[in-house]
Amino acid sequence: MENINEKIIKIQKDALNEIKSSKDSKNLEDIRINYLGKKGELTSLLKMLGSLTKEERPVIGGRVNKLREEIEDALNSALIRLKKAETDKKFESEKVDLTLMGRIHKYGHRHPLQAIFDEVEEIFLGMGFSIAEGPEIESEYYNFEALNMPASHPARDSQDTLYFNKELLLRTHTSPVQIRTMEKMAPGPVRVICPGRVFRRDTIDATHSPQFHQIEGLVVDKDVKFSDLIGALEVFIKKMFGEDRKIRLRPGFFPFTEPSAEVDVSCIICGGTGCPACKHNGWLEILGSGTVHPNVLKAGGYDTEIFTGYAFGMGVERIAMLKYGIPDIRLFFENDIRFLHQFR
Ligand code: PHE
Repeated sequence: MENINEKIIKIQKDALNEIKSSKDSKNLEDIRINYLGKKGELTSLLKMLGSLTKEERPVIGGRVNKLREEIEDALNSALIRLKKAETDKKFESEKVDLTLMGRIHKYGHRHPLQAIFDEVEEIFLGMGFSIAEGPEIESEYYNFEALNMPASHPARDSQDTLYFNKELLLRTHTSPVQIRTMEKMAPGPVRVICPGRVFRRDTIDATHSPQFHQIEGLVVDKDVKFSDLIGALEVFIKKMFGEDRKIRLRPGFFPFTEPSAEVDVSCIICGGTGCPACKHNGWLEILGSGTVHPNVLKAGGYDTEIFTGYAFGMGVERIAMLKYGIPDIRLFFENDIRFLHQFR
């Protein structure tokens, strides 16, 4: 009996001390198991009750139970205290400084040439055109021959390019897509624009680059007239450069259109009164066009007694330079971010 009482006092003192000085919830759990667990100190005390007398048993049993409650209470309040300390510590270490500036992400944007492509495509899609594409490595046949430019034709000189062999070359214009599209569509109607990259043996200066971009247009149908070409271009130019722009056609020459016309727009900078941009004549040349040559229609698989058509082609860099007032074509290809960011 004396022995058990001493044990109770010792356990009480030890347990409460350990709980008090416990530093974290994991250690607290160890303490709980050590005293209250199945093989714990308190449980072994209860087992000793059997050796006591009938009178002693309830007294000691009561004490042990009281001690159990006391230890449980101490454990509970220690647990609350430690948990709070732990979350406080966690919050402290994860503290968010709301006054700190956020990181500003740099978003990309379209290249100015892509913006022109998108704008032109949108205008023509709205007029019922669809988009056709062809390869940049093109055959001599599609690039020249089928476009009414036989091997001896002098117009080939102005469109010299890189040849991979006698047959294959880097296309000098998007016009070969005319033939490829007609071959696919004949004898049905054609109404397409063909955006793409083209190449020429040009020396590089402010307005020339051996690589540039074009957008071709082709309409083939029964009863297509020259006036349809003028109408379509007028709509395009007003949408692209402003409602009060005028267009002017000058006779031109292309082997694949007959008759052919160079198309000018009234200067988008001065409106036609004359300025450095239009070299003081009030007009800017923006594209070549004409009625599709019968030889070209034939090459595309169309009966020239039934079908007629018109075609046009424009330089994308040139349009971008006019529209944005860019003085040098090389800026498009240098990828200088200070230049590109102006077109966000
Ligand atoms: N392919 C011509 C060029 O590159 C442009 C053009 C296309 C002219 C269609 C007339 C008709 O210069």
